[in-house]
Amino acid sequence: MKKILILPGDGIGKEVTNECMKVIDFFKKSIEIEITEELFGGASIDAHGQPLTKDVLDKAMESDAVLLGAVGGPKWEELEHNLKPEKGLLTLRKELEAFANLRPGKVFPALINASSLKKDIVEGTDIFVVRELTGGIYFGEPRYVKNVGGKRIGANNLIYNEDEIARVANIAFEIARKRKNKVTSLDKANVLEVMQLWRDVVTEVHKNNFQDVELEHLYIDNAAMQVIKRPSTFDVILAGNLFGDIISDEIAELTGSLGMLPSASIGSKHGIYEPVHGSAPDIAGQNIANPIAAILSLAMLFKYSLNLDSVHDLIEKAVSETLNAGFRTKDIGYDNTLTCSEMGDEILSNIVKLS
Ligand code: IPM
Ligand code: MG
Repeated sequence: MKKILILPGDGIGKEVTNECMKVIDFFKKSIEIEITEELFGGASIDAHGQPLTKDVLDKAMESDAVLLGAVGGPKWEELEHNLKPEKGLLTLRKELEAFANLRPGKVFPALINASSLKKDIVEGTDIFVVRELTGGIYFGEPRYVKNVGGKRIGANNLIYNEDEIARVANIAFEIARKRKNKVTSLDKANVLEVMQLWRDVVTEVHKNNFQDVELEHLYIDNAAMQVIKRPSTFDVILAGNLFGDIISDEIAELTGSLGMLPSASIGSKHGIYEPVHGSAPDIAGQNIANPIAAILSLAMLFKYSLNLDSVHDLIEKAVSETLNAGFRTKDIGYDNTLTCSEMGDEILSNIVKLS
């Protein structure tokens, strides 16, 4: 029996995980899965005064995988840092040691015109971001805003040790071997010492174990430009926590919509699966969100936590066919767009047909 914990979170998180539940219910007929659903993020703050309760963290620890919706919203923005919904997410990632965040950004042919880039530039783009997720500036100490001599000073610390870099680099190279055999590592080694260490360690890992894989190093500023200039030449992009956060939103947009991008966070025995998009408070509650990123995240869950590659492929194919048939949500289409739940139903009916 595999245990999956569902944390819908806030805003459109609830709507998109609802659509995932339809897909899970279908596969429950043939795969033994136990589902538990809990409050997380702002919803948990409202009920319990904190974004991630001990009880929910314990349940996550006992699960094989966690499927997340999204967290955050204007209601909780003014809270102190440690009590914000986002803090719950960071704690969950850290406690579950999900240090490698995998974010595949692929252009679905049917959506080529949804990209903000010209068709001939974006055609064939298939980028796989491997983002370090439990270190770097997100977690570095000390961190503060304090008053020094009547002036407020704020600081965060970008810090990595060589093991943290090497383990995520290993994952990036392994993934590249199963794809187009190329890794582009992003850093800012021309200015930051910690990023020189990043570059050195990535180079060592490559030299010791992965000489068959092509390795390219780019400074993050140059990379931000190159991914929109020549997106189809990238394969795996390896980056630290902050640079990976930024570049993955950029890649999402060039592949069509942030509403399409799934993610998996792996490392230890529990995986966390979440759409790259946030809680989108501006459209929450209207049933117009795109559930595809969440459904593709669920597909990744089947692959990386349950070792069911065939189910992953089937869900991905069902999404492709739904798009090929012309169905669109508002973020990727113009007229006759589907609601969030209608899109979920269309995908489910294709899953049923294909299985
Ligand atoms: C992401 C999000 C999160 C992050 C936020 C919500 C804390 O932007 O998963 O990309 O910065 O990691
Ligand atoms: Mg982000």
